[in-house]
Amino acid sequence: MTMLLEADNITAGYGAVTVLRNLSLHLSDNESIGLFGPNGHGKTTLLMTISGLVRPSSGSIRYDGVDITLNRASDIGAAGLAHSPQGNTLFGEMGVAEILELSAFTRRAKVQRKTQMERVYSLFPRLAERQKQLARTLSGGERQMLSIGCALMCAPRLLMLDEPTLGLSPKLKEELGIAVADIAKSGTPLVVVEQDVQFLLSLTDRLYMIEHGEVVREIDRTDAPDHAEIMKLYFGGDSDD
Ligand SMILES: Nc1ncnc2c1ncn2[C@@H]1O[C@H](COP(=O)(O)OP(=O)(O)OP(=O)(O)O)[C@@H](O)[C@H]1O
Ligand SMILES: [Mg+2]
Repeated sequence: MTMLLEADNITAGYGAVTVLRNLSLHLSDNESIGLFGPNGHGKTTLLMTISGLVRPSSGSIRYDGVDITLNRASDIGAAGLAHSPQGNTLFGEMGVAEILELSAFTRRAKVQRKTQMERVYSLFPRLAERQKQLARTLSGGERQMLSIGCALMCAPRLLMLDEPTLGLSPKLKEELGIAVADIAKSGTPLVVVEQDVQFLLSLTDRLYMIEHGEVVREIDRTDAPDHAEIMKLYFGGDSDD
């Protein structure tokens, strides 16, 4: 088993505010992991720190055997670590196909541009039907698909998705879940942030619960808790949320 990602004792935050506290997690190259926990407890900050968008004040991050702790975000992306961020940050005045094409900007992505584009359209037929449509006119669900599509255009070796189904209807959530499961099945390891633990368990092998910027629990899919226990995890602890 080879480690693809290892975060070791990460402490990080914004200015004087510490968000992550000595947080450690790992991911081997043949598994996917899920992250969940109360709002505002550091899940997005963790993904941003791994991507090089937030600098940790201590700790280290290794990706594919290389220390990337102080690497630039663009270099981390170029090495195949793709990040689909939370919320809509797409260029509104550009068309779907144009945004997808521009997303394949690294050397490794450029050579795979055509096949990745076909893959995105086969995973998300709604995007194939809307190639010329401006991003700002897409529905919320279609934007999420485009955001994942952009990350796929980077030809990722590891794909991080931050709340890909936020605000979607149950039907669209199921549709997106099928596409994300397909990505994992085809051999791209995932780091997925979601609030819905059952949904995460259907997509990933292991979960980390993050509270107050720390890993407070690790759950293996094979000994998954039941619904009541999950509710207790969220609401029954001594969290102030
Ligand atoms: N740019 C920023 N500057 C200052 N504080 C920030 C910044 N971004 C996030 N924070 C704070 O860091 C804390 C953790 O936020 P983060 O977005 O990582 O949480 P989260 O677990 O992803 O929450 P959610 O489930 O709501 O997405 C919050 O208190 C938030 O207000
Ligand atoms: Mg978040």
